[in-house]
Amino acid sequence: MSVTKDDETYPRKILQYMEGFLISKTLFAACELGVFDHLETAERPLSAAEVAQGLGSSEDGTRRLLSACAGLELLTVQQCNNQELAVVEVVRWRHVTLRVKTIPRGVGSDEEMLKFMHLMNSIWNICSKDVVTAFDLTPFKIIYDLGGCSGALAKQCTVAYPGSTVTIFDLPKVVHMSRKYFVSSQDKRISFHEGDFFKDELPEANLYILARILHDWTDERSSELLDKVYRSCSPGGGVLLVEALLHEDGSGPLTAQLYSLNMLVQTEGRERKASEYACLLTAAGFTNIQVQRTGKIYDAILARK
Ligand SMILES: C[S@@+](CC[C@H](N)C(=O)[O-])C[C@H]1O[C@@H](n2cnc3c(N)ncnc32)[C@H](O)[C@@H]1O
Repeated sequence: MSVTKDDETYPRKILQYMEGFLISKTLFAACELGVFDHLETAERPLSAAEVAQGLGSSEDGTRRLLSACAGLELLTVQQCNNQELAVVEVVRWRHVTLRVKTIPRGVGSDEEMLKFMHLMNSIWNICSKDVVTAFDLTPFKIIYDLGGCSGALAKQCTVAYPGSTVTIFDLPKVVHMSRKYFVSSQDKRISFHEGDFFKDELPEANLYILARILHDWTDERSSELLDKVYRSCSPGGGVLLVEALLHEDGSGPLTAQLYSLNMLVQTEGRERKASEYACLLTAAGFTNIQVQRTGKIYDAILARK
């Protein structure tokens, strides 16, 4: 197998080590909830709904936890009458009694926000080019990056598409930090727009980028936002979703399964399959939906008005 230069520079190992944290959290959460004991005691495969009922936990959260445990090969999942049933493997984790604390929702102080923005920024040092060039975006001259945060994707767009301008649309506090710490005022092709994408009008653009935005929100909120994007989008324009896509059968990738579980504690959203994003896009009116898997953590979906 040939190794491209890009493969050599993609820090898979570091990313795997970062994933280790999420893996530990998943394992400890499953132990603390008694998932393995419950499945073992049942002596038959159980659905996510049955496990949730038995443990007194939410069905959605339990489904994600079981999915991540299956990805980690702590459980197996059997298909039965179109239903996924979880079965415990030969795993004895119940002796692990470490306490699991949930991560606080939201970002508070300036210092925390700056840390969050650096975190958001860091992954794009590695794979922004892959998502921005997953499709040829040359025809889109006016681009808005909704929830554009540190501007990493905006910068990559201006490099890849010299004929385009990009506006970072984000909450006022984030725009302030982005201007101060991340985007040089010398960069004349990047501008800022302070606003709330749920409450405020979206300016007209040829392309809207929503990178790691919809995974923060429920289907209802995501539809609300996509409806607004569709209304503001110029005819022939489009929307680019950048997300970690789950396989259609939910069997992986492990990173997306773990991220989806993480979203449960940090946001109201979840990671989705490409078909689920396609449904949301179609409902908003978008057509010609194309999916590009990059082979890295984040994939791209382009849809047109
Ligand atoms: C998970 S981060 C993704 C940031 C960036 N797109 C990326 O991929 O690095 C979500 C971003 O959406 C912004 N955001 C959240 N709610 C928003 C709102 N109502 N209006 C505008 N931006 C919002 C946040 O400030 C944050 O920058």
